[in-house]
Amino acid sequence: FRIAVLASGRGSNLQALIAARDAGELPVEFVAVGSDKANAGALDLAKTAGIPFFVLNPRDFATRRDYDFELFARLDASGADLLALAGFMRIIDGDALKPWVGRMINIHPSLLPKYRGLHTHRRALEAGDAEHGASVHYVTAELDGGPVIAQAVIDIRAGDDELSLAQRLLAKEHRLLPAVTRLIADSRLRLTAPDGVEFDGQQ
Ligand code: GRF
Repeated sequence: FRIAVLASGRGSNLQALIAARDAGELPVEFVAVGSDKANAGALDLAKTAGIPFFVLNPRDFATRRDYDFELFARLDASGADLLALAGFMRIIDGDALKPWVGRMINIHPSLLPKYRGLHTHRRALEAGDAEHGASVHYVTAELDGGPVIAQAVIDIRAGDDELSLAQRLLAKEHRLLPAVTRLIADSRLRLTAPDGVEFDGQQ
């Protein structure tokens, strides 16, 4: 089972996937890591792990569609069975991503459907929520709106700030994303039309 990962930033979720693979807990081959940022830490991680990687700079493209179609051409060429967005900070054109619906997941740091978009930790704190979390969901044309597969939940504690919340949640993300990826790699989870998720609990 071949996976590709897109990341714009430090790539700790990518690192968690690589570590799970190295530990024998995730039976996948990494075929590509892509980024929109030449200085993304995720690219260094890919290099170290010997994973093919590429950068596509949005400034080199006239439109978002042009960018996204080139992005998916690269991913098609990689032969990936699954694409994981792990901190990829771009909105993707709905037509471009359509062929990947059902084969693309994203990790988002909120208990979706709460707090789509940015600044999720701040928004959870400002709302006075008792709980916060992260969601892995299938990607559809609706930003952070595709069917949720699984969530990790943490309590919000007195004295928490954005940083403490982000750090505590990140540790959970690092278990959630490999776990969901494994279910998909093992063919135990799939997207059902139009927006359901089917889980085969049998071993
Ligand atoms: C994570 O919080 C993830 O949920 C969000 O972006 C962050 C990426 O962190 N989508 P990293 O680059 O994987 O360390």
